[in-house]
Amino acid sequence: MKIARFSRIGFILAAAGSAVGLGNIWKFPYMTGENGGGAFVLVYLVTSIFIGFAVMIAEMIIGYLGRSDGAGSFELLAPSHKERWRFGGLMIITGLLIMTFYSVVIGWIFHYIVVALTQLPATVADAERHFMAMLQDDITTQLMYHTLAFLIVTWIVSRGIKSGIEKLNLILMPLLFIIVGGMFLYATTLEGFTQAWAFMFNADWSKLTSESFVKAVGQAFFTLSLGMGAILTYSASLEKKSNLVYSSIIIVALDTAIALLAGLMLFTFLYQYGAEPAQGPGLVFISLPAVFYEMGMLGNVFAVLFFIALAFAGLTSAVSIVEPMVQFLISRYGFGRFKASLVIGMVFYLVGIIALLSNTSVYSEMLTFGSKNFFDWMDFLTASVLLPLGGLVMAVFVGYVMEKERVFAAVGHHFGPFFEVWYFSLRYIAPVALFVVMLNLMGILKL
Ligand code: TRP
Repeated sequence: MKIARFSRIGFILAAAGSAVGLGNIWKFPYMTGENGGGAFVLVYLVTSIFIGFAVMIAEMIIGYLGRSDGAGSFELLAPSHKERWRFGGLMIITGLLIMTFYSVVIGWIFHYIVVALTQLPATVADAERHFMAMLQDDITTQLMYHTLAFLIVTWIVSRGIKSGIEKLNLILMPLLFIIVGGMFLYATTLEGFTQAWAFMFNADWSKLTSESFVKAVGQAFFTLSLGMGAILTYSASLEKKSNLVYSSIIIVALDTAIALLAGLMLFTFLYQYGAEPAQGPGLVFISLPAVFYEMGMLGNVFAVLFFIALAFAGLTSAVSIVEPMVQFLISRYGFGRFKASLVIGMVFYLVGIIALLSNTSVYSEMLTFGSKNFFDWMDFLTASVLLPLGGLVMAVFVGYVMEKERVFAAVGHHFGPFFEVWYFSLRYIAPVALFVVMLNLMGILKL
């Protein structure tokens, strides 16, 4: 079968499009707010740069050399026990779990584009009432936009790598950078910027609990799209002679930059207009719209642009979460692309409805298990448990299972003298850090 290949810039934008998502603009700011600011940001930064980068190269190598779907690439590259390593590919299922809440949140964003275009709430109290009414009582609106998100994502993925995914990213990603960059520049002119800066970079270590540590590491994996085969699958469509080191540096840099810019911009606006940073998942849907209202005419324009940028970020990520499973059905079971996209789309759509209902007042009790409802479980289970676990599997696979010569042949030339540094961190630092995360998790879950 002839595989459609990304162009060089197409790959970088698609991988950056995968990485830059709701994780950067929706999750990162509210998690920073909830987990006390600076210390959380620092753990996230150190993990992204040292562990995330190392694991990203590993994940790229598996796809680039394997040239197959998630399971197939492991199978082809393992020197022995091939059938056993095939199960490494199971991690693509994490994508289904992510999509159940990801699609619902993209739906909220669509709804908020309409809110921004029609009537912004005037006060934070108003905004909170609006968001809660949508979240807890308005099943119809949420369902309608969740359906729209499902249709768009499925349609793009069904058009394939070249005319679907690459094209989407070539158009949306530059627009996203312009919008976020422009709004950030405006934020730097406001007084609240100093406070925002202090909140994000002054570390108060007493605020860092073991749960926020686990969350910061999980966030680094989530935001870089690591640990479930998304980067792996994209890399399988790379040109033969590609520079994985260079691509990874750009992707990690862009992703980290967008998270920091979005965070600084958001907190500047919040401080400037006296709103609360520690607001949870509603942060960009509650405080921000009220702040935009306060800003007057300019705020209205910002609001529309902001939610459009957020929708772009979400869509370019969503297609990368779905693609590994679609690719798997195509290459393993001979599905046509359309049918594969539809099957995967239907699954996350239907399970997503459960996630959606678990936030509503009527069904929340039924759909709450232990400390979290279904929606929050999907988020926690994927970001804090399954992605770090997938990352651990990939680090061990490239660091210990694959022959070193083979790994060297793929990236040694581009790393130059830093090859050994990277190889060392892949073999020793990343697995140990991820293992510590697993231990912490067991403590949190009281296993
Ligand atoms: N990185 C995206 C974000 O920040 C989400 C995402 C896309 C993702 N593909 C992924 C997360 C693969 C984990 C694995 O929103």
